Amino acid sequence: MITIRRARCDDLLKMQQANLLCLPENYQFKYYLYHILTWPQLSQVAIDSKSNVVGYVLAKMDEEETTYPHGHVTSLAILRSYRRLGLATNLMKLSQKTMREVYNAQYCLLHVRKGNKAALKLYQNTLGFKIHSVELKYYADGEDAYCMKKVFGQTKEKSD
Ligand SMILES: CC(C)(COP(=O)(O)OP(=O)(O)OC[C@H]1O[C@@H](n2cnc3c(N)ncnc32)[C@H](O)[C@@H]1OP(=O)(O)O)[C@@H](O)C(=O)NCCC(=O)NCCS
Repeated sequence: MITIRRARCDDLLKMQQANLLCLPENYQFKYYLYHILTWPQLSQVAIDSKSNVVGYVLAKMDEEETTYPHGHVTSLAILRSYRRLGLATNLMKLSQKTMREVYNAQYCLLHVRKGNKAALKLYQNTLGFKIHSVELKYYADGEDAYCMKKVFGQTKEKSD
């Protein structure tokens, strides 16, 4: 059985492992730690019965000075054999709920590779994000990113 819960410090190495397996965008351990220590409610993990991390969302509040507080999804990944079970959807929904409830976030931003069809479909069709802008050569290998935005309270989510 897979359980979703708030990420803890002792999950961070396993989150980093999952990230290395799933994505070319990797981060130093201290960056994971910074997320958890600064915004302890926002990052979530999906764990199996042996406490292995099979998926995670690493999220934060944006620290730039802007009019409205808003969240940012730093990274999201589900191990290959656990995909298409709704885990990413549930991790994202929980993270967004806490962004709103704990930090009064008005919207959420994230970046996604233009060519990442699975993630794009998840963000647009399932979670109600919209393309906000294109950031040319955003990724280290030169691929462009869509910056996607979801305004809370206005966008419609696919019902469960
Ligand atoms: C993208 C990713 C996080 C999706 O995780 P997931 O748990 O499989 O997603 P969900 O099961 O919640 O899928 C929800 C919806 O997203 C869409 N979707 C997810 N994976 C898809 C795929 N491979 N192809 C097409 N649509 C897909 C579908 O509409 C799906 O709904 P459905 O299963 O009812 O058709 C996962 O494929 C992954 O970890 N990929 C590698 C890392 C990555 O790309 N992270 C995102 C970086 S921005």
